[in-house]
Amino acid sequence: MNHHTWDAYSKSYLNIQKNPATFQLTLMNMLRFEQADEILDAGCAGGQLHQYILQQRKKNCKLTACDFSMEMVKLASARMLKFLNNPLDGAISEISAQEIENVDLNSPLFEQNKYKVFQGDVQSLPQLNDNQFDIYISNMVIHLVENKDLALQEAFRVLKPGGKIGIVIPVVSGNLLMSTLTKCFIQAGLIKDMPFKPTDIETREDIINFLYKHGFKEIVCWNQTIPFDLFDIDDNYIFPQFREILDKASKEQVDQFYSLYKSEVQNRLNLNLPFTVEALSLIAKKPL
Ligand SMILES: C[S@@+](CC[C@H](N)C(=O)[O-])C[C@H]1O[C@@H](n2cnc3c(N)ncnc32)[C@H](O)[C@@H]1O
Repeated sequence: MNHHTWDAYSKSYLNIQKNPATFQLTLMNMLRFEQADEILDAGCAGGQLHQYILQQRKKNCKLTACDFSMEMVKLASARMLKFLNNPLDGAISEISAQEIENVDLNSPLFEQNKYKVFQGDVQSLPQLNDNQFDIYISNMVIHLVENKDLALQEAFRVLKPGGKIGIVIPVVSGNLLMSTLTKCFIQAGLIKDMPFKPTDIETREDIINFLYKHGFKEIVCWNQTIPFDLFDIDDNYIFPQFREILDKASKEQVDQFYSLYKSEVQNRLNLNLPFTVEALSLIAKKPL
């Protein structure tokens, strides 16, 4: 998936941001982020965690974030500006399309508040210095990157010796919503086969070995499962990969897909269960 796919998805992202943030909150807690002087959020999307970090961070801690989608960078910037201008003025999600489109990416408020967000690819971040950060977080990003080794090399480079990395990668076989959507897509004749196969990182052993390979030490890794707040058929949960397929399909196929999806949502609710997503989370240190 290239950055255009994510640009298009940025509008839906505002609505579903609560779920991935659950992984991030656990990760930040495990990393003890309140002790850090400089934090990097790599692949930050709409920056849903940034207001929380600013409120809880150590005095003078600097938060830097990047995403390769310019629309996501605008969304994160607009949210932060709204927060900095008026922290008590309602939900950040009530931000308008115009506020996002016209956002001032160079507002002096960002520097004053030690916040920076820029367009950048996690595989190559020449904008950032060697040994700059105490914490590097990347939630639900590394599995999407073309060359994961380059991403990890960059993470290692920008971290200070003794600095900590925290990453979250979804377990493909543990994503019930994704597998249900896939089933409905196949039944509606939109796709033939499972489009998103498990990557080479699907188990604890895979991810731990990957981190060791890149020089990290003191690895702690856990599986975590979270619910989606999905109680009705909801367009926001059609993930970007599926959205592209639906946009090109015939009306009959789209209708058939939605009717299948609707009954799957209802079946789940009849069991009094939510849809869930599972991920592998990991924290580790760059050696001193
Ligand atoms: C599933 S979202 C996760 C975003 C965010 N970390 C969160 O927890 O909500 C994936 C994000 O990674 C970004 N992304 C994907 N590949 C990237 C890359 N190579 N460099 C930077 N950002 C990337 C996408 O634009 C998207 O915003």
